[in-house]
Amino acid sequence: MNGETIDPGRCFGVFGDPVAHSRSPEMHNAAFAALGLPHRYFAFHVRPHALANALSGARAMGVGGVNLTVPHKRAAVAHMDRLTAEAGRIGAVNTVVIRRGEMIGHNTDGSGFLDALAELDGGTPRRALVLGGGGAARSVVDALRHGEKPSDVIWISREPNRLPAFDGVARVDYGDLAEAFATCDLLVNGTTVGMRGGPERFPITLPIASLRKGVRVIDLVYPRPADGLLDQAEAKGARGQDGLPTLLWQGVRALEMWLAIALPASVVSTMRRALHR
Ligand SMILES: NC(=O)c1ccc[n+]([C@@H]2O[C@H](COP(=O)([O-])OP(=O)(O)OC[C@H]3O[C@@H](n4cnc5c(N)ncnc54)[C@H](OP(=O)(O)O)[C@@H]3O)[C@@H](O)[C@H]2O)c1
Repeated sequence: MNGETIDPGRCFGVFGDPVAHSRSPEMHNAAFAALGLPHRYFAFHVRPHALANALSGARAMGVGGVNLTVPHKRAAVAHMDRLTAEAGRIGAVNTVVIRRGEMIGHNTDGSGFLDALAELDGGTPRRALVLGGGGAARSVVDALRHGEKPSDVIWISREPNRLPAFDGVARVDYGDLAEAFATCDLLVNGTTVGMRGGPERFPITLPIASLRKGVRVIDLVYPRPADGLLDQAEAKGARGQDGLPTLLWQGVRALEMWLAIALPASVVSTMRRALHR
C-alpha cells in the first residue's frame, strides 16, 4: 500500500464495531477485480461515538459508498439527508449512497433476504416465524410483509411490546412457541444467538421437533455455528440456509446502486465464491 493513492470516489467500505469479522471486503473486492475496476473496499473500525464524524468525513471526501453493520444501522438514520421507503419503515440503514454531497440511506438487508429465500424454492411463505427484535429481524419482517404476496408473520422477541406494530404481524414472546413452530413454513433466526461472541442459547429450548418436514429455516448468523439451530432443524428434515446468501444478495444490491449497473451473473458467482473461501 506504500505510496498508493486512491480517488475517494473509488473507495468503499463498511463501518462497524467490531468489524474484523466482516466478509464484505473479500466479497466486494472480488467483484471489483472481476469487473476490471480499480475500486477498493475496506473494513473501518468505527466506534459508536465516532459514527457522525466518520459519515461526515465520507461525505466530505466524496467516497463511493458506505455499508453499516452492528451497531450503527439504527444510529445512522439520523445522519442521512434522505431515506428510502424501506429504510424509513425499518428505521435502519445498511447502505449509504453518496451523490453530489447528499447521503441517501438505503436498507438492502430485506431485499437481500428475499433473494436468498428464493434460492431455497418453495415460493412465498404462508406463515413465517421470525426470531429477534433487532435490525436484521426488522428488515426480514418488513420484506415478508411488503412482497407481492405478503406472508403472515409471527414475530418473537423477549420484549414483544417494544417491537414496532406492522399490519399482519403478531408480536409474541418465547412463552408458547409450539403451535407457531408446528404451523410455520419458514423459520428465520434474526437474533445474535450463535454468533461468535454472542449469546449461546435462546431463552427457552426451541421446540424444533414440532417443525414440519421440509420447512425452510434461515439462520442469518454467519459463519454457521456448529450444533446450532440449522443442524438441529436439518436433522428433523428442514431445509436450512445460513447467513451467507443474504449477505451476498444485500451486497449485490448495494454494489449495483453504487456503480449504477446491473451485475452480470458471473460477477455474482465470483462474489459468492469469495464468501465461501
Ligand atoms: N446474513 C446477513 O446478511 C446478515 C445481515 C444482518 C445481520 N446479520 C446477523 O444477524 C444477527 C442479528 O443482527 P442485528 O443487526 O439484528 O443485531 P441487533 O440489532 O443487535 O439485534 C439482535 C437481537 O437479538 C436478540 N437477542 C439477543 N440476545 C438474545 C438471546 N439470548 N436470546 C434471544 N434473543 C436474543 C434481541 O432481540 P429481542 O431483544 O427483541 O429478543 C436483539 O434485538 C447477527 O448475528 C448479525 O451478524 C446477518
